[in-house]
Amino acid sequence: MRIIHDRTTLRAVLGTVTPGLVPTMGALHEGHLALIGRSAAENRQTVVSIFVNPTQFEDATDLARYPRDPAHDAALAADLGADIVFAPGVEAIYPPGFATSVEVGALAERWEGAARPGHFRGVATVVAVLLGVVRPARAYFGEKDYQQLQIVRRLHADLALPGEIVGCETVRDADGLALSSRNARLSPDERRRAAVVPGALRRMIDLAAGGERDAARLVAAGMAILTSESSLAVEYLAVVDPETLEPVTAIEAGTRALVAVRLGAVRLIDNAALMLG
Ligand code: PAJ
Repeated sequence: MRIIHDRTTLRAVLGTVTPGLVPTMGALHEGHLALIGRSAAENRQTVVSIFVNPTQFEDATDLARYPRDPAHDAALAADLGADIVFAPGVEAIYPPGFATSVEVGALAERWEGAARPGHFRGVATVVAVLLGVVRPARAYFGEKDYQQLQIVRRLHADLALPGEIVGCETVRDADGLALSSRNARLSPDERRRAAVVPGALRRMIDLAAGGERDAARLVAAGMAILTSESSLAVEYLAVVDPETLEPVTAIEAGTRALVAVRLGAVRLIDNAALMLG
């Protein structure tokens, strides 16, 4: 496996190869590793990018305390079958004079976009750069960040970028909590309480399986579970169209529930399909 730090070398090494691409910010956990394993299984070569993208952090302290362990990440990526780790510095992605940003419109304004102004502009811009540099046959993104996945699909279609965007199922801990680098910042007590987040989604899925179609009643049932944990603050729990992410009143195949909560200083997001698409 090779570790490459600049665009020119990466292009020269790839030549005519159209690899699988797994964009990450490092601090790799089983969720990332599932994406890398899938790419390695589906492509002749896999590039894992590790870049803590400063433009998607609204808060300088959040950026500064983002966990970084590039040597460990590279070893994990190699184990899962990555051929190249692309670990650029900030200037390799944003060279002097870089002036373009990618805005994805209404899709980026709701939910996480409302909570984190500018976040999705940073994400969309860096993803466009990575797709342009790597020119992958397939690029892999987790459903864990469902709004991000839909934004990436939108920009990929709108800009007529080559290759395919592949969405991958959320990898969860034994109690259902979605794996996230932020989980490490929960105290043992908060970590236990966080299980109500997948618990609320599970309850909504079960009600949908039992025939409930009314979005307001599903949200109320999920809220009852979230608010049973008084130390947790709910930012939003919504039932939405899986592509536009606009709220719906009645669910159908594919309809998604999106949730964001705060536990102490940690913000957690999760989502699930309420009925199979
Ligand atoms: P990062 O948070 O490192 O996540 C990298 C990829 O791993 C994303 O596609 C994310 O959805 C996926 N992922 C994270 N946790 C997961 C889980 N539990 N199960 C499945 N997939 C999971 O998301 C980013 O980085 C950045 O915004 C990025 C796209 C790299 C742009 O900077």
